[in-house]
Amino acid sequence: MQTLKNLLTQIQEVGDLKDLETLRLQVLGKKGVLTQEFSALKKLEGKEKTQKAQELNTFKEAFVRVHASKKKELQDLELEAKLRAQAIDPTLANSTLGSSLGHPLSYTKDRIITYFTQQGFKLHVGTLVEEERYNFDMLNMPGYHPARDMQDTFYFKDHKLLRTHTSPTQIHAMQTQKPPIKMIGVGPTFRRDYDTTHTPMFSQVEGLVVDHAQKVHFGHLKQVLEDFLHDFFGGVKVRWRSSFFPFTEPSAEVDISCVFCAQEGCKVCKHTGWLEVLGAGCVHPAVFKHAGLENVSGYAFGLGIERLTMLTCGINDLRSLFETDLRLLEGF
Ligand code: DAH
Repeated sequence: MQTLKNLLTQIQEVGDLKDLETLRLQVLGKKGVLTQEFSALKKLEGKEKTQKAQELNTFKEAFVRVHASKKKELQDLELEAKLRAQAIDPTLANSTLGSSLGHPLSYTKDRIITYFTQQGFKLHVGTLVEEERYNFDMLNMPGYHPARDMQDTFYFKDHKLLRTHTSPTQIHAMQTQKPPIKMIGVGPTFRRDYDTTHTPMFSQVEGLVVDHAQKVHFGHLKQVLEDFLHDFFGGVKVRWRSSFFPFTEPSAEVDISCVFCAQEGCKVCKHTGWLEVLGAGCVHPAVFKHAGLENVSGYAFGLGIERLTMLTCGINDLRSLFETDLRLLEGF
């Protein structure tokens, strides 16, 4: 019985939950002291047995009670220590996050918007859910045009879709403003695409200039875009290649000399020394007709914000720009 009494003192001195459990097993476990004492009862008889059994039960009750309160005390201490270790002091100054330029995509977008609005272009945002005719038909892309395929475009019911480019902002501008018009349409666009250089959502900038007949020509377009590219990329060479877009005639694609290898040849420019950066052209007469304009001339251009960001930040997997990993974003 003396050993049992000692156990009650011992339990008070236990310092953590693991030791407390060891002690509990030493007493109440299958081979525990108390368990053995209880089974030894069968060797006793009569009054002696009753008395011993009472003593053991009283001790068991005491042990269970002391154990429970010790356990609670240790659990509280453990929780307190854990909370103290995790405590955040919201008044502390943050030493790791310095001032920032923001996300590379927002930074690029803001730079482009600032540039063109300073040149007198009015900013349009347009709507992301577009009518099919604004996204395609009125831009001279009739029903059989491959871009209208379900594979490429996110369609809704009732001839509505998620705009696949910012070019519909051209039509809205021409329908709501009188020439001279000078606008950029900026914002998200959507296509069913996903690989290292394509994501289902991406952003474009559309430019449109419309004035009375013969006032605007390809030479103006060339000047405006070359000025922009020199401002944006610094001392690069600019190359114009004739191309095709349904909504412009003539149409061109514009390349800059590779910003990664100075035209020595590298993986990014596929050893050509040139990087394609935008599409442009003079507004097709059919587009003016659909927008209800007569005796006007104009040019348009379109560029991808992600593409320009990848080129300025040296990123080869576009998807990394959409992961909110601060360590990666801090690297730009
Ligand atoms: N809408 C075209 C696209 O998504 C980009 C574009 C090319 C816009 C030429 C234009 C243009 O206005 O003239 O790929």
